[in-house]
Amino acid sequence: MATLGVFDTANLNGGQKLAIKYFSVALALFGAQVLFGMFAAFQYIAPDFLYEVLDFSVNRTVHVNALVVWLLYGFLGGVYWILEDEAGVPVVGLGLANLIFWILTLAVVIVVLVYILVQVGPADIKSIWLIMEGREYIEAPRWADIGIVVSVLVFFFNVAATFSKGKYTGIGGVLVLDLLALFGLYLAGMFYTPNVSVDQFWWWWVIHMWVEATWEVIVGCIMAYMLIQTLGVRRKIVETWLYIEVAMLFGSGILGLGHHYFWIGTPQYWLAIGGFFSALEPVPLVAMVVHAVFDSGVHKLKSNNHPALAWTIAQAAGNLFGAGVWGFMHTLPQINLYTHGTQWTTSHGHLAFYGAYATAVIAFFYLAAQKSRGNVWMSGGLVGDWKWKWALAFQWIGMLAMVMALLIAGYEQSQVERAMEGATWMGYFAGQSHPWFIQGMNWRMVGGWFFSLGYVLLVWDILTIGKRETRPSQVLAPAAH
Ligand code: HEM
Ligand code: HEM
Ligand SMILES: [Fe+2]
Repeated sequence: MATLGVFDTANLNGGQKLAIKYFSVALALFGAQVLFGMFAAFQYIAPDFLYEVLDFSVNRTVHVNALVVWLLYGFLGGVYWILEDEAGVPVVGLGLANLIFWILTLAVVIVVLVYILVQVGPADIKSIWLIMEGREYIEAPRWADIGIVVSVLVFFFNVAATFSKGKYTGIGGVLVLDLLALFGLYLAGMFYTPNVSVDQFWWWWVIHMWVEATWEVIVGCIMAYMLIQTLGVRRKIVETWLYIEVAMLFGSGILGLGHHYFWIGTPQYWLAIGGFFSALEPVPLVAMVVHAVFDSGVHKLKSNNHPALAWTIAQAAGNLFGAGVWGFMHTLPQINLYTHGTQWTTSHGHLAFYGAYATAVIAFFYLAAQKSRGNVWMSGGLVGDWKWKWALAFQWIGMLAMVMALLIAGYEQSQVERAMEGATWMGYFAGQSHPWFIQGMNWRMVGGWFFSLGYVLLVWDILTIGKRETRPSQVLAPAAH
């Protein structure tokens, strides 16, 4: 029998051992993201800070790319975590999957070091191949792109072959189809053209269709498994919800793409299409909250993993507010005309990415922590439970402080720069030197410190949670609904 409280990978199946590796890199990259975010935030206040050593553009690049990569690592880990349980057979091609993990991780390390040390190159095709492509969020150079595509194809093979060999559950079927779409879209971001409008047109296919369609579905799948595991919700219920949500997500998400085509030189009909369909996007997010709250209510919050459940609830709420409400606020073209590209956008970007995705991956960290310590007790009265609670509280206080500070700064920019000064060059500077903007940047910095503290506590907690527990995990009563 597994020894309680002791970290031992022997407690895990093959896919889960690999998941632990993905989660470890994800947690480290999360740290890099926070650090470089703090540098970039401080440069708004003290523009000379690290000038010509680590310029704002470099810090921002590392911040947002580390974000995308750590979330993808979290999802890959999440999929490997659930794979054997769902399919009922060991992962097919696990040796290859492990090899790919190391190759991908080496590539990520090289890419990040090049961003930090080389930073820029001449404006020619060599820089695109070796340094970066300059497409926000997916700046990876061409050589790494090709490596990513190969790794992803191997990953897809592992997942699809495992389900085919074992059995396809509802979660499994949705997952495989979604992975195909998710990775197929990445190809749209590798297509190079010197025409900025055309370039942006395709670039948004990746960014929008990832975060507002395919990522939502992957998170829907792994969180469905999470609800079954931590609350004991019946599979039939979870899977029915999953189908409804997926249909709605794709229904509104695909043409919702139009909310990025308002001002980039695309035909005018996108104003109507983008406005209409993206305004519908919050609907599936409401469904996701109803689903999570309903399940938790029926099971009277009786869960075998309190921190994972807390982060699951945070995910449902964060997704609704960050993506749904904050997204809806600026998605109509009449409003977006004023808010486009201001700190308003950044406010939404933070709450949405954090609320919808970071939270889901963190919930999985806790699931992994529990099982790798021999399925230790993680319900009420867990020894040392102050750590996970304060990690969650500090991160959320910090995030909400940053989001509100950015929203106020963005609101001021929309008024001063756009409404009053008519989006002129002078207006741009008037907007950025207004006291409300400056105060917004200062408060964001304060929020950043809280968030950083929450991050440190999270790492400490993940490494130690359950260590001093002697009770085995709470057994969930069979679901009554
Ligand atoms: C979890 C899901 C979502 C994430 C992670 C997310 C993230 C982001 C990010 C990071 C940006 C800034 C992109 C840039 O750098 O230019 C952005 C822009 C935008 N998002 Fe979202 N978003 C999500 C869902 C939504 C939803 C559901 C809506 C609408 C209801 C929405 C509406 C918009 C709009 C209109 C913009 C353009 C802002 C501008 O004009 O500057 N988003 N989103
Ligand atoms: C200590 C915490 C953090 C600080 C101080 C921070 C700071 C920053 C700064 C200064 C930028 C550049 C904004 C600009 O170009 O004006 C930025 C962008 C961004 N950050 Fe953070 N960040 C933090 C944490 C996070 C977290 C936890 C997430 C998501 C999980 C996140 C997601 C993003 C995104 C998506 C963008 C691009 C937004 C856009 O282009 O509108 N950040 N952050
Ligand atoms: Fe979008």
